[in-house]
Amino acid sequence: MDYQQLEQQYGLALYPKRDAVLVRGNGALLFDDQGREYIDCAAGIGVANVGHCHPKVVAALQQQAESLMVVPNTLYNDKRSLLLEKLVALAPDSINRAFLCNSGTEAVEAALKFARVSTGRTGFVTAMRGFHGRTMGAVSATFTKKYRDPFAPLIPGFSYVPLNKIDKLDAAITDDTAAVMLELVQGEGGVNIASAEYIAAARELCTQRGALLIVDEIQTGFGRTGCNFACEHHDLQPDMMTVAKAVAAGVPMGATLLSEKIKVEPGMHGTTFGGNPIACATALATIDVLIDEDLAARAQHCGEYLERTLMSAPLSQVRAIRRQGLMIGLELKGKVQPVLESLMAEGIIALPAGATVLRLLPPLVIDEPQIDKVVSQLHRLLA
Ligand SMILES: Cc1ncc(COP(=O)(O)O)c(C=O)c1O
Repeated sequence: MDYQQLEQQYGLALYPKRDAVLVRGNGALLFDDQGREYIDCAAGIGVANVGHCHPKVVAALQQQAESLMVVPNTLYNDKRSLLLEKLVALAPDSINRAFLCNSGTEAVEAALKFARVSTGRTGFVTAMRGFHGRTMGAVSATFTKKYRDPFAPLIPGFSYVPLNKIDKLDAAITDDTAAVMLELVQGEGGVNIASAEYIAAARELCTQRGALLIVDEIQTGFGRTGCNFACEHHDLQPDMMTVAKAVAAGVPMGATLLSEKIKVEPGMHGTTFGGNPIACATALATIDVLIDEDLAARAQHCGEYLERTLMSAPLSQVRAIRRQGLMIGLELKGKVQPVLESLMAEGIIALPAGATVLRLLPPLVIDEPQIDKVVSQLHRLLA
């Protein structure tokens, strides 16, 4: 069967595709339909943090599929209630409730609506090179013009400020700012790390001016940066947090995590699939694995190991390395695409972040011999 041809013919041509049909995964490894093995440094774009097909996650998913697959949000459910409790316990202390949905962009969309209704204000400040999703609100919050411009007019009220420039943020927050929304490490925008001073200033300015601080942890959450959430590196107490991607190891799920400042009336927002038992049971098992296997600490250790081994040889094609935990960006002097293709030919799947940044987001269960293989190819290609 020519699966590639079928996707090309019947799928919407939105993505530059690579030449492999992936059919199986195990830990940090992926396998294609020809039986070829790949080391995964993409993790489904930051999703498979606990590794592909972790047996405990698979068992929870199977068990739930055999007992109940759907419960509307007008009725209670055992797995949903347990997951809500677990998410709130894992999140910073400021978070006391959660709204469950199905993707990152939906989590952002809800956060924007909740911010407007809770503050009575309409404006939003987000960061240049930030990425928050593809639905109308989330894409309005996203800086990159090529994602926004074809769909104009977008939601009014958004302004964009350069990351790490406190004076610009200060100037952008007005009496009508409902919220400032930030990624603490920008993923799609090039693995750009917000400074501790900037994050502290954002918290303080929002509090002073009556604006909410939303932290988008969709890519940074669930151990990726070396803590359960990137907020923990800064002891940051957000007013809302958006999560998705790794929360359920590949089963679609998102959540908007809320502080006591968020006030929403019944009926104002909702979802059919959000908080469904399959996603909730899978997320419960995923978070248990994350904690039991101490994967945040492992991300910290493996990230340091990868950077140290990478830096042990000259990399003349690399302008800068940016890293927090196992969220790694190599800013190249040239285009990233040929490097990604060469890595793929050697059995390594990595990601771009813009035209010139090579992004590595491996499952947090990647081991040192696998990292060594990745690093030796990077040494060969970027010397
Ligand atoms: C920081 C951030 N926010 C939001 C999103 C959108 O998430 P989704 O693709 O699940 O809608 C992404 C996806 O890459 C992301 O990285």
